[in-house]
Amino acid sequence: MSYDPTLFSVRSVAAERVYPLRSAVLLDGHSESCRFHGDDEASTLHLAVYQNERIVAVSTICREALRGATSDTQWRLRGVAVESEWRGHGLGRLLVNMCLDHVQKEGGQLAWCTARESARTFYESLEFVASAPPFTLPSRGDARFYEMHHVMPGGHGARATL
Ligand SMILES: CC(C)(COP(=O)(O)OP(=O)(O)OC[C@H]1O[C@@H](n2cnc3c(N)ncnc32)[C@H](O)[C@@H]1OP(=O)(O)O)[C@@H](O)C(=O)NCCC(=O)NCCS
Repeated sequence: MSYDPTLFSVRSVAAERVYPLRSAVLLDGHSESCRFHGDDEASTLHLAVYQNERIVAVSTICREALRGATSDTQWRLRGVAVESEWRGHGLGRLLVNMCLDHVQKEGGQLAWCTARESARTFYESLEFVASAPPFTLPSRGDARFYEMHHVMPGGHGARATL
């Protein structure tokens, strides 16, 4: 389903606005770990989808190079979360595309994210590619994650910038 602008509105918000849904959906409610590196940078964009003045979906995009890289044209997509009852309404796709628009506007060449296995197909539908095997994170038990890359139009991708 695609996003219905008569039901929802999207706003650029302060970091604090995305924390509650970020914690609830992605961090099992652990609010102490909901602040990410880069959240307070001036170039970072936090987006929230409102439905009747309630935030039902959030995402963040911040300038961050891939591990081992020094590029300032790489951006990290973080905290993409849609409240369970509003999934399948095109909100995730809308937010990721708006984050990619921000990267494009800022002259970025690559957007990347750490995707949980259950979201891999979602990101693939948005032209993110996992080029390496999955990995686990010490804080997240057996859950498997993929580093996924989206080369911006005119960008050079990860390999060229490492
Ligand atoms: C993953 C998530 C962000 C998707 O948001 P959403 O608003 O439900 O997704 P959309 O409605 O925009 O769907 C966009 C497309 O992705 C597909 N899709 C959505 N979630 C999917 C999933 N988990 N697996 C496979 N495909 C999925 C949809 O079918 C749709 O495809 P279509 O356009 O061909 O119909 C949402 O399910 C969520 O918050 N999940 C829990 C947190 C999470 O995993 N976040 C990602 C961080 S790694």
